[in-house]
Amino acid sequence: MPGIAVLLSGSGSNLQALLDAQAAGDLAGEVVLVASDRAQAYGLQRALQAGVAAAYIPLRATRGPQRQQWEQRLADIVACFEPDLIVLAGFMRVLSAAFLERFPNRVINQHPALLPADGGDTVTTTSGLVIPALRGAHVVADALRLGLPVTGCTIHRVTPRVDDGPILARAEVPIQPDDTVESLHERIKAVERRLIVATVNRLLAGE
Ligand code: GAR
Repeated sequence: MPGIAVLLSGSGSNLQALLDAQAAGDLAGEVVLVASDRAQAYGLQRALQAGVAAAYIPLRATRGPQRQQWEQRLADIVACFEPDLIVLAGFMRVLSAAFLERFPNRVINQHPALLPADGGDTVTTTSGLVIPALRGAHVVADALRLGLPVTGCTIHRVTPRVDDGPILARAEVPIQPDDTVESLHERIKAVERRLIVATVNRLLAGE
């Protein structure tokens, strides 16, 4: 069974979708490791409840040699589990080229907004609307602030450029007039949870 490592920083509802699919026999792989930069990340509890190895790798500095050591430690732990796929499921750290070179073509990321295939600054929706490509850590709030009628989610291969890389899957989510960041993000995540299971299965099937 192909191994999947999941890196996360938060609640881990997407991890749960993978674990649930695995328990139901609907996942073409096995989650072998969950690792986090945050001790309080609820995703670590979800891993332990499912009997999956969980690792917290404390990050003491966001730049300089300590940041590099942290990433090296993370890469060493991930490498021990020899995963076929590494899923960034709400992982709020940017991985360097050194990390990515260690796991070539094996790291994928979930992003709670639509990203373009060409790395550009705009995305064309299925209805032909051209909207800004939202990148960074606050894209759900950005979509509301900009008054967009639609946003969505993207799964892409990870490259050293932030929120960039070949698109694997994308889905649109309409924005309601009374949406808050929480209500919109929850609807996006409901779509993401289905998309991540389908995309992982597709990748592990060699497509
Ligand atoms: C998801 O919406 C994912 O796209 C986003 O974090 C959420 C994790 O939800 N990722 C990023 O923003 C990465 N920059 P979860 O913890 O409930 O799975």
